[in-house]
Amino acid sequence: MKITLSVIKADIGGYVGHSESHPACLAKAADCLAPAKEKGLLIDYHVTKCGDDLQLIMTHQQGEGDEKIHKLAWDTFVECTEVARKLKLYGVGQDLLADAFSGNVKGMGPGVAEMEISERPSEPVIIFMADKTSAGAWNLPLYKMFADLFNIIGLVIAQNMHGGFAFEVHNVKEHQKIVFNAPEEIYDLLVFIGAPSRYMVKAVYHRETGEIAAVSSTQKLALIAGRYVGKDDPVCIVRAQGQFPAVGEVLEPFTQPVLVEGWMRGSHHGPLMPVAIEDSTPARFDGPPRVIAVGFQLAEGKLIGPRDMLADKSFDKARRLANDLADIMRYHGPFEPHRLPLEEMEYTTMPQVQEKLTGRFEPITD
Ligand code: F6R
Ligand code: MG
Ligand code: MG
Repeated sequence: MKITLSVIKADIGGYVGHSESHPACLAKAADCLAPAKEKGLLIDYHVTKCGDDLQLIMTHQQGEGDEKIHKLAWDTFVECTEVARKLKLYGVGQDLLADAFSGNVKGMGPGVAEMEISERPSEPVIIFMADKTSAGAWNLPLYKMFADLFNIIGLVIAQNMHGGFAFEVHNVKEHQKIVFNAPEEIYDLLVFIGAPSRYMVKAVYHRETGEIAAVSSTQKLALIAGRYVGKDDPVCIVRAQGQFPAVGEVLEPFTQPVLVEGWMRGSHHGPLMPVAIEDSTPARFDGPPRVIAVGFQLAEGKLIGPRDMLADKSFDKARRLANDLADIMRYHGPFEPHRLPLEEMEYTTMPQVQEKLTGRFEPITD
């Protein structure tokens, strides 16, 4: 049975500031999706949130990039924006960059990750969602999940994945893509995905079968709008078990909270802290960046779940480490490497400051 799993998300207004989603917006989203399930357009849906991002998880049989599904998501965001407006939430309609829907939400602000699959006899999927960071944040965990032998022992000892995985990488600034085969091309792969502000892992495939294993959202809001409109706050779908990494191999990368771009004003490096859904409430210096993982079993497209995968106690140490790292990064205040390099900062006063200082910079002659 062919099923499409679509995760479409947008920040339609924060509560309080950019720290959380209001329950009334989540309730409204569920009200908007329910009739689509009754009419059979959706097989199932689940509404959740990660920080100030409203997340629509939908299953259907319309395929990827379908106009009806995308319009449903867009209309849902518009209705939820009205709820946010009445409550005077913060940054109302922040990620809705277009005035009217035109065929597909890609390029209109919301983030999208979709995969069409033939549902296996048992189909565990994990949906990662992050707040206060950008799509490149998935590069390192996806590499560990599908290519790092110190993370995924299955590559070494499981016959059905010994052939490795292929990584589709997008250059989001020049709109180009390339596929690298792991393990033969991992040195080449890492040259690119180690620079996550430009090169992002879009998808991962099981090489022997060509089956999709993971897909991420790679929308860069700033590139769409041409100005800062908030961080991309990406999502990523990963299939688990069998010829794919075990659930524990999928989650293991998040035991090491590494530094990602985002945090305050989208202009800082900070640790990606794995948290339970209810703890995705970035409050300290608008952060630190958060990641949640929502697990489901699919049953003929029905979403059996959710399970809040990173709520597990075994991630407590990673949370402590992330808080320690957050302290160390905060020591730097407005200095790099806490602050992003000039060209990556989402906010800057540099053009105005340079303008003001015109004539005061002199050549160094000695
Ligand atoms: C980062 C983020 C926040 C805001 C900050 C300022 O992605 O959303 O850190 O950038 O709170 O927000 P404004 O400019 O809306 O007051
Ligand atoms: Mg926001
Ligand atoms: Mg957000």
